[in-house]
This record gives sequence, C-alpha cells and structure tokens, in this order.
Amino acid sequence: MTGATILHLITMAVLVTAATTQAPPTKYINHTVGDNVGWFFNSTTNTTATNYSSWAASRTFNLGDYLIFKTSSNQTVIQTYNLTTFKNCSIDDSSYNDTFVYNGGNTVFNQALTIIVPLTTQGPNYFFSDASDGIQCQHGLAFDINVSRGLGLPLSLN
Ligand SMILES: *[C@@H]1O[C@H](CO)[C@@H](O)[C@H](O)[C@H]1NC(C)=O
Ligand SMILES: *[C@@H]1O[C@H](CO)[C@@H](O)[C@H](O)[C@H]1NC(C)=O
Ligand SMILES: *[C@@H]1O[C@H](CO)[C@@H](O)[C@H](O)[C@H]1NC(C)=O
Ligand SMILES: *[C@@H]1O[C@H](CO)[C@@H](O)[C@H](O)[C@H]1NC(C)=O
Ligand SMILES: *[C@@H]1O[C@H](CO)[C@@H](O)[C@H](O)[C@H]1NC(C)=O
Ligand SMILES: *[C@@H]1O[C@H](CO)[C@@H](O)[C@H](O)[C@H]1NC(C)=O
Ligand SMILES: *[C@@H]1O[C@H](CO)[C@@H](O)[C@H](O)[C@H]1NC(C)=O
Ligand SMILES: *[C@@H]1O[C@H](CO)[C@@H](O)[C@H](O)[C@H]1NC(C)=O
Ligand SMILES: *[C@@H]1O[C@H](CO)[C@@H](O)[C@H](O)[C@H]1NC(C)=O
Repeated sequence: MTGATILHLITMAVLVTAATTQAPPTKYINHTVGDNVGWFFNSTTNTTATNYSSWAASRTFNLGDYLIFKTSSNQTVIQTYNLTTFKNCSIDDSSYNDTFVYNGGNTVFNQALTIIVPLTTQGPNYFFSDASDGIQCQHGLAFDINVSRGLGLPLSLN
C-alpha cells in the first residue's frame, strides 16, 4: 500500500466513526410527555391522548433531564425501576425503594396538574398511571425509557 492509500483509509475510518457516533449531549433537557397533548386518558373511549411508547422511542433521555407531565388529577404518574411492577400496572406489593408515586395529592377529579420528575438513575425507567385500578395503564398510559449517562447528574440532583 502506498502512503497515500493508507492515509485515505485512515481518513475513511475517521469519517465513518464520526458518522455513526451520536453527538454527545451538551445540555440537560426537559421532555414534555406527549408533547402538546400531555398525559391524558379518555375513560369514555378507553384510549390515550397519544401513543406514549412511540413518543418515548423518538427521544434520547439522559441523567439530569426532567420529564414534565402536563395532566389532571384523573391520571397519576408512577415511576418504577421494577419491571414486575410496571407490567402489573399496579403499585400493590411494590417496594418503597424502587417505585415512586406522583399524584399531586389531589382528592378531587379534573384538577389541572403538572408533575415534574427528574431522571436520576441510569438504565430502564418505567412510567405508568395506576388510576382506574390499572385500566389506564393496561390501555397504554404507560411507557419505558432507557436513561443514559449524558453529562451525569448535576450537583442540584446529587
Ligand atoms: C427544567 O425543569 C426544571 C424543573 O422544573 C427547571 O428547574 C428548569 O429550569 C427547566 N429547564 C428548562 C431548560 O426549561
Ligand atoms: C373522550 O372521547 C369522546 C368520544 O370521542 C369525546 O366525546 C370526549 O370529548 C372525549 N373526552 C375528552 C375529555 O377528551
Ligand atoms: C375499558 O376497559 C376495561 C378493561 O380494561 C373494561 O372493563 C371497560 O368496560 C372498558 N370501558 C369502555 C368504556 O370501553
Ligand atoms: C404504539 O406504538 C408502538 C410502536 O412504537 C406499537 O408497537 C404499539 O402497538 C402502539 N400502540 C397502540 C395502542 O397503537
Ligand atoms: C375524570 O374522572 C371523573 C371520575 O371518574 C369523571 O367523572 C370525569 O369525566 C373525568 N374527566 C375527564 C376529563 O375525563
Ligand atoms: C399485581 O397487582 C395486583 C392488584 O392489581 C396485586 O394484587 C398483586 O399482588 C400484584 N402482583 C405483583 C407481583 O406485584
Ligand atoms: C419487583 O417488585 C416485586 C414486587 O412487585 C418484587 O417481588 C421483586 O423482588 C422486585 N424486583 C426487584 C429486582 O427488586
Ligand atoms: C430495595 O431494597 C431491597 C431490600 O430491602 C434490596 O434487595 C433492593 O436491592 C433495593 N432496591 C433498590 C433499587 O435499591
Ligand atoms: C440502555 O442504554 C445503554 C447505553 O446508554 C445500553 O448499554 C443498554 O444496553 C441499554 N439498555 C436497554 C435495556 O436498552
């Protein structure tokens, strides 16, 4: 091989690496769950406002990002690291240390609610609503994400 050919191959390798490696994140991101339609379930039709699995699949999540759930007290937000709890659509028998309940503390229906959840643990994070005895979750008010390290946790969340 001539020197020029080797240099060419090295250049190609660098270009291929650059093209296939995702650009590293440079800032923390707030993800509004469901974008404009928020986190809602229609109990008349048993349908979710959007496909939350598709929404989640279209994004990258890193430590220190926040999920913003724009919702009402008709839905809840459960965060769990436990696949069994997630698949069961219920917090019955879940552990205090791997499952967290965000319901805003409302005791009446239809109260507008914004629930803010920081992402503090790498790897699988599961989210669902446990309202209506699991019916909302069973009909798609649920999604999972894989949290990457990104910039790492900011001091404010450490
Ligand atoms: C993201 O949400 C957090 C928590 O509400 C807030 O402190 C922060 O300012 C927000 N960041 C941006 C870029 O909106
Ligand atoms: C639920 O769906 C029904 C039937 O499509 C519709 O009439 C109703 O307005 C919806 N409720 C809400 C809160 O969007
Ligand atoms: C919604 O689904 C549940 C089962 O998950 C069913 O019991 C209920 O009747 C359904 N409601 C409507 C309005 O279809
Ligand atoms: C939501 O989208 C996923 C693909 O991202 C698909 O597998 C799933 O069936 C969809 N769910 C509904 C209720 O349409
Ligand atoms: C919220 O839940 C209550 C009680 O189930 C129901 O009467 C009301 O229609 C629900 N609101 C919406 C917007 O679905
Ligand atoms: C699943 O949820 C049901 C209630 O819907 C509860 O009785 C059961 O113990 C739960 N199972 C596990 C493994 O969490
Ligand atoms: C997940 O939760 C179930 C109870 O719902 C518990 O039996 C199991 O040990 C938990 N799994 C892990 C990995 O902690
Ligand atoms: C939760 O606590 C149990 C025992 O108390 C332990 O086995 C498990 O690893 C803990 N899970 C997490 C996520 O810290
Ligand atoms: C989550 O992402 C990491 C890379 O950030 C990868 O190594 C791991 O396999 C992924 N886990 C799942 C369950 O997809």
